[in-house]
Amino acid sequence: MKPIRTLILIALAGPLCAQDDLKQAPAAIEKPSERGVGKPLPADSPLAPLIADSKLLVVVFTAPDCPVSKLYRPKLDRMDKEYRARGVRFLTASSSDASLTALLDARRSTEVFVIDPKGVLRYRGAVDDQYGIGYSRDAATKNLLVDAIEALLAGKAPAILATEAPGCEIERPSKPGASPLGTGKIGITFHKDVAPIFQRRCVDCHRPGEIGPFSLLSYETAKSKGRTIKEAVTKKRMPPWHADPKHGEWSNDRHLSSQEIETISAWVDAGAPQGSAKDAPAPRRFAEGWLIGTPDAVYKMPRAQKIPAEGTVPYKYFFVRTDLKEDTWVQAIEVRPGARQQVHHILVFLQYPLNRLKEQPPLDGGLFHGYFGIMVPGESPMIFPEGMGKKVPAGATLVFQIHYTTNGEAAEDVTQVGLVFAKKPVTREVVTRGIVNAMIRIPAGAPDHREEASFTFENDSKILSLLPHMHIRGKAFKYTAIHPDGKEEVLLDVPVYDFNWQTCYRLKEPKLVKKGTKIQAVAHFDNSKGNPGNPDPTKEVRFGQQSWEEMLIGYMDFVKVD
Ligand code: HEC
Repeated sequence: MKPIRTLILIALAGPLCAQDDLKQAPAAIEKPSERGVGKPLPADSPLAPLIADSKLLVVVFTAPDCPVSKLYRPKLDRMDKEYRARGVRFLTASSSDASLTALLDARRSTEVFVIDPKGVLRYRGAVDDQYGIGYSRDAATKNLLVDAIEALLAGKAPAILATEAPGCEIERPSKPGASPLGTGKIGITFHKDVAPIFQRRCVDCHRPGEIGPFSLLSYETAKSKGRTIKEAVTKKRMPPWHADPKHGEWSNDRHLSSQEIETISAWVDAGAPQGSAKDAPAPRRFAEGWLIGTPDAVYKMPRAQKIPAEGTVPYKYFFVRTDLKEDTWVQAIEVRPGARQQVHHILVFLQYPLNRLKEQPPLDGGLFHGYFGIMVPGESPMIFPEGMGKKVPAGATLVFQIHYTTNGEAAEDVTQVGLVFAKKPVTREVVTRGIVNAMIRIPAGAPDHREEASFTFENDSKILSLLPHMHIRGKAFKYTAIHPDGKEEVLLDVPVYDFNWQTCYRLKEPKLVKKGTKIQAVAHFDNSKGNPGNPDPTKEVRFGQQSWEEMLIGYMDFVKVD
């Protein structure tokens, strides 16, 4: 039996792997003793005085620029205050403190260690299951740290002794030249080999003021993040890009080639050598202010939106009246968030004035027939080629749909939209169309449920871009063109969909499709408990705008051609 079972396991593990790597709720460790649980720390450890002085000592490893660490900070501060009165002491340890990380064999920020008055390690692992890299819940469903503390204070052993901790890998001393990939890679340096990759693929988001949690412009930060970076690139969490490179060519493609991944890994394994500044690439210049040039009109949110430090924020909607007296063709649209670090992405919709509702494109899924403008992190604004544009009807209202994500720091946001009007006649209207299925029904617990939607072109057209949209249970998405002659062609395949990234895939060359071409959008959903962000695996899920509901929308930008 055994070999067969192994085979099945491998077969099952294959396609799921990437997803598992991307998001992983804290798994219990099978042999806690192998991670030091139940064992005493050396009597002369630097923690000894603190241990002697408290009923329990909780050591928390943090890194100021690890996103998971930042998210847990407010909660850990509250625990610290509440438990102090009961004799439990919290110690925040920096994950760059080599002596403490070595003493406890700490692996990730935020990993926590609970030590009893005898100096024995009683629990290690995650705080709870609310946050991890790539997922967050409204509230924790397993309060691992609190349960461990409460059990120990009551004189009992915790039910769970050790788990893997979510967060960023802690740097540990590495041996120079010890790279398993090192053959032929001797001499890799930051300035010569790694900085050019970071410039091309990372710093759009990883620079001061942008959405990435740390800057990758300088050698010092890059070095201090070496292991985390290696993990993020080898597991393909970073840069965020989810299209299978087998299909389609994209002007905004940012995926790393296997060679680039190998270069970064080998550099980290070699101890992150700096090399000579002479070899550094010329610094990239970033434009300040509007990227579309001076807008002809700017529309702002009527009031600031407060964003809390922690938890999840439901989508927010703001209605902003335009003051346009006549129908206006727009050449460029830029959506500029105020709180860049907390604004995750924005869709802007057009609402026609009441007396012209008839002209509003069909409402296939409520508001979501197609967006007018979009902002996703790391992406340049929409500037249409000459002769193409979008039309704003006189008296239209802009509807901002904003997804805020918390990151440990409270903020306020005022988002604005800038428009550049077309100065030359527009002959091709850019249509953004959502291919929608509002009848989806995802059974409770289903790990891989398939649904589809389709759209048939009524004219010869050119497709400019594609943007799959689902919510937290979204797992995979594929657009296939079925040409009038019956030939099928995959336009975009996203085998591991990630709700955190609403990437718009822009075609390098617009794709010409003939009248009668059908675009089929196939979506897969994971409503099982194996999906760590799943708000409730016991519920059947239907179409809806709330984050606990689901969506199946394949957005598509196209122009008609004559
Ligand atoms: C489109 C924007 C964007 C690009 C491009 C990008 N990042 Fe990130 N990165 C982010 C954001 C946002 C986060 C925080 C994610 C979170 O909160 O979970 C992040 C987190 C990280 C983390 C810490 C979390 C983890 O997954 O381990 C590392 C390391 C990282 N990025 C490295 C890189 C590297 C290296 C590159 C280029 C090769 C890159 N990133 C490109 C936006 C980006």
